[in-house]
Amino acid sequence: VDTDKDTIFPLLKKGQVPRHLAVIMDGNGRWANRKGLHRIEGHKAGADSVDRIIRACVNLEIPVLSLYAFSTENWKRPDREISALFDLLNYYLKKKFKTLIKNEISLKISGDIARLPPRSRELLKNTIEKTANSKKLILNLCINYGSRDEILMAIEKLVKKRIAMGDIKKISSQPTWQEFEENLYTGDLPDIDLLIRTAGEKRLSNFMLLQSAYAELYFTDVLWPDFDEKELFHAIDEFQKRVRKFGGLTEDVVKSDVLKNINE
Ligand code: FPP
Repeated sequence: VDTDKDTIFPLLKKGQVPRHLAVIMDGNGRWANRKGLHRIEGHKAGADSVDRIIRACVNLEIPVLSLYAFSTENWKRPDREISALFDLLNYYLKKKFKTLIKNEISLKISGDIARLPPRSRELLKNTIEKTANSKKLILNLCINYGSRDEILMAIEKLVKKRIAMGDIKKISSQPTWQEFEENLYTGDLPDIDLLIRTAGEKRLSNFMLLQSAYAELYFTDVLWPDFDEKELFHAIDEFQKRVRKFGGLTEDVVKSDVLKNINE
């Protein structure tokens, strides 16, 4: 696998990798099912994929990686699966702590962690604190995350800040996008450039709706445990071929219009 990565990654344009890559990691259950294994085995294999993609981001100098690890809707799953997921998270955090430090990766959480098992909360807090100064990659784990909940929380935070400032006139005035945005979990992160969803589903499922406003979307049928460096290469290669306009025009269209005016 390593030689693979070493031959394909250099084919990507270095200065043009996403500044913020996000992944909806789907298909762990199906992967396990197809192999006649328990769903939990699928999540374990999914954790190996998490490991691979983190390494790849460091390698490709992608500065921010967001991973959808647990949604506000995932609480509907059987207790056994939920506790297995958090056990896996705990195991992973303990096992990977040194790797995070060594590779200068800082951990960040998006989501309401109040509802998480105490041990997970403790491990997350500790890891966040101890990795806070790392600058190579921000690993933004989205746990108990949902976009709509996040928006409501951001409104509450913004209103409270305004009230604390005590300026009656300002309390009900329309905020700028910037003033609003800094109250989101991702207030300190750039917008998502590339959003990948695995396992054939083509929807956002309440994930980072505002942060994806201008994201390039990439869907693949590959199940998350099978998502490797080659799949990531394909996604970024396609990203680099897309023309991003952010509502404006591309340079060549502008130029051809200018030429038309001259010819008239
Ligand atoms: C989606 O597959 C995956 C999840 C709900 C959890 C993601 C968790 C991991 C990749 C494991 C560990 C993560 C970390 C950060 C250590 P699914 O169960 O919805 O699959 P299905 O749609 O095929 O049933």
